[in-house]
Amino acid sequence: MKKFITTPIYYVNDVPHIGHAYTTIICDTLARFYRLRGDDVFFLTGTDEHGQKIEEAAKARGKSPKEYADEISAKFKALWDEFGISYDHFIRTTDEYHKVTSQNVFIKMLKNGDIYKGEYEGSYCVSCESFFAANQLIDDECCPDCGKKTRLVKEESYFFALSKYQDRLLKWYENDKCVLPKGKKNEVISFVKGGLKDLSITRTSFEWGIKLPKELNEPKHVMYVWLDALVNYLSALGYTRDEERMEYWNNTLHIVGKDILRFHAVYWPAFLMSLDLPLPVSVAAHGWWTRDGVKMSKSLGNVVNPKEVADTYGLEAFRYFLLREVPFGQDGDFSQRALIDRINSELSNDLGNLLSRIVGMSSKYSANIINSNNVKEFYSSELEASKIHIDQALASLEDIAPNRYLEELWKVLNIANATIAKYEPWNLVKNNKFDEANALVALVANLLARVAILLSPAMPQTAQKIADTLEFEINTNSYNELIINSNLINFKANATTPLFAKIEHELMAPAPVAKIDEIKSKDEEIKIDDFKKCVIKVGTILECDNIEGSDKLLKFKIDLGEEKPRQIISGIAKYYEPKSLIGKQVCVLANLKPAKIFKHLSEGMILSAEDGSLTLLGTHASVKNGAIVG
Ligand code: ME8
Ligand code: MG
Repeated sequence: MKKFITTPIYYVNDVPHIGHAYTTIICDTLARFYRLRGDDVFFLTGTDEHGQKIEEAAKARGKSPKEYADEISAKFKALWDEFGISYDHFIRTTDEYHKVTSQNVFIKMLKNGDIYKGEYEGSYCVSCESFFAANQLIDDECCPDCGKKTRLVKEESYFFALSKYQDRLLKWYENDKCVLPKGKKNEVISFVKGGLKDLSITRTSFEWGIKLPKELNEPKHVMYVWLDALVNYLSALGYTRDEERMEYWNNTLHIVGKDILRFHAVYWPAFLMSLDLPLPVSVAAHGWWTRDGVKMSKSLGNVVNPKEVADTYGLEAFRYFLLREVPFGQDGDFSQRALIDRINSELSNDLGNLLSRIVGMSSKYSANIINSNNVKEFYSSELEASKIHIDQALASLEDIAPNRYLEELWKVLNIANATIAKYEPWNLVKNNKFDEANALVALVANLLARVAILLSPAMPQTAQKIADTLEFEINTNSYNELIINSNLINFKANATTPLFAKIEHELMAPAPVAKIDEIKSKDEEIKIDDFKKCVIKVGTILECDNIEGSDKLLKFKIDLGEEKPRQIISGIAKYYEPKSLIGKQVCVLANLKPAKIFKHLSEGMILSAEDGSLTLLGTHASVKNGAIVG
């Protein structure tokens, strides 16, 4: 069966972080699973490079949008390559063929009577690249999705007749799997029931976008970036050009974050209806990742860098953690502690030790040969119980619930480990029950092999190592034989090294700002008394040094006019050479509750201003240390 699976195409205004890695790794796991069971898969990812946000981000860095997009797009591609993401095509919306498809799509919708010219007057959120009506705004001016200030725009624009599609969309939602998970679908339905307005799909106040088709003679207009972006899914398949790959379209699965579900579950199907194309089988939306309970943001400096995690803890453990830690659709939290706990108990104990025990037992009892002849005779109930979990694991992947699929596989491992504990093969051998002991080893080897085959989409290298150790293959044939037909096979066990080493303590520097309340992107108003609670003082930097093992943190000694200098840890190593700061006066939040950061006590916070880069706040003239800022 042909199957099309897609990630969102990521904006090039920012480097890849854990959220992007999460979506991409889910898609990679699903693509590998479908291939394993014999499907012909086309897995698409890429970058979204047009629009006002990118134009402005490039400008802020003194680059042309294309130059800037080239740079960041290459970073996404390099990371996916390093992670072994098995994509079939990486699309860039600045690719020529994509521009051609987008223009063809525009013409088709126009011909179908779904596009008309008018004027847009209303609010626009550049961060979300999204239009809002006045009654949708928060406090009359802020974006209901991200909370940032919107801008008023008034410009000539073409519109897509979205309102026409309201009833057909509602009809589509009756279809069981079209939007997953169910709770998210209900949100979409109530949004659509609230009434759809026609959608502005061209912009005239900036230039960085796909031009309208020449024949329209509208040089001022560029396409709305979301129209351009969504069309990527079709242009990658050759729509309106060379349509050979369009067969994949009939069986499409879009995986997205909940932030962009509306675009994929409302606008996109309406566009497709206008084009007379089949709708996706499923749009599945996952939740949002935070770090140590705090929203990730550049200004907090707490964004999790996926490469750093993979380099530190191993790519396979990272993949496992992402897929297993949160139920698909719910929000999740990244903490090193949680990752380490899973590595130690689930990967090292449940999985790794099982393999070592199989190798150890078979070398003692049967010269490394594992023969499955007697398994059914002695352990049929264990086989039956495992089969239920294997079937549930498969069903969970059908429902796009990778966490449940891993949980079910671990239940099979639990059966294997519990059976060893229950029958104690070493005692069976002592009591001359050799057949029973060997059958037990063969049972758990078969269970582990089944788990390894099904685990291979999530942890390809680990699964392969298990297969190499026990000399079996992971491919569609073995999937059919061991998973679908539940056949038992024989093995030969080879000596091996542990799959996962235990980890004792956190290996990465913690987020520079340890625990602070979520900073709202919209400025909240406070009373003067609230401000007065903050004691901000001027102080002179006496010492400033790097912290061993961290490339983010600096350790300061600051004279705040107190008995002894304060020690403050600050995550600004990227921006300053430590020695250059000595003697400078800075502003310090002096009554911040002391906290340990990377094992060092920090007694305050140095204030800085951020605008993409960072600069410390000082005073215009030298003042006495300890002077109050207010
Ligand atoms: O929205 N937690 O691109 P984008 C979980 N270009 N997932 C996260 C995340 C987080 N904290 N942060 C990002 C765009 N993501 C458009 C898409 S598609 C036609 C156009 C993931 O760079 C998640 O998949 O803002 C989210 O939907 C996506 O990155 C947004 O990436
Ligand atoms: Mg975004």
